[in-house]
Amino acid sequence: MDSITVALPKGRLAEKSFEVFASCGITTNIQNEISRKLFIYDHENNLNFILVKPSDVPTYVEHGAADLGVCGKDVLLELKRDCYEVLDLGFGRCKMVVAGPLNKKDNFLSNKRVATKFPAIAEEFYKKKGENVEIIKLNGSVELAPLVGLSEVIVDIVETGTTLKENGLTVYEEIFSSSARLIVNKASMKTKSERIKEIIYKLKGAIESDMFKA
Ligand code: PRP
Repeated sequence: MDSITVALPKGRLAEKSFEVFASCGITTNIQNEISRKLFIYDHENNLNFILVKPSDVPTYVEHGAADLGVCGKDVLLELKRDCYEVLDLGFGRCKMVVAGPLNKKDNFLSNKRVATKFPAIAEEFYKKKGENVEIIKLNGSVELAPLVGLSEVIVDIVETGTTLKENGLTVYEEIFSSSARLIVNKASMKTKSERIKEIIYKLKGAIESDMFKA
């Protein structure tokens, strides 16, 4: 049986990913081992799980350090890595939006400043609209930017809407909907095709039977 390495995103999506992989029999239930470990070996199924920063998942998969990865569509669109996106896993649903302070939506002139962790997505969005904006790249806590005068608006993901609400911000426009995707290294798809297809088949079955809700 080919050994398979799966890159999982630490945080929000990791636990759900383990749950999904375990529920359809791809791995045994090893949730208890997650804690702070970055590498988990499932001996019974000859599977390695590596836990990496969500935005690093496509990098591990593109370079073949992982055969498979679970990663948000938002990250895939931002990074445009060279790997196959094979399955919408249906969980981890969120929206990429433009947001800003309440009641100020139409107050901004052109050339507004846009703070974001997703500069490529923001740039492409405003380019399509034909609007000139200044993109300011941040690495987190993006909601702070309009509050302290760093930007007029933000482009960011919204899941429950709590962070926006707690910071007096609201959605101005939706850009796209995102969810977790299964991605595959291009060479592994050929060299380990039997095992990878089996994993995809099992995950697909679980998704189609509506086993997992977002
Ligand atoms: C993400 C996102 C928002 C928040 C949205 O940040 O960038 O800030 O979650 O979630 P909500 O709609 O459920 O409130 P994350 O938690 O990844 O932290 P970060 O700002 O440090 O990147």
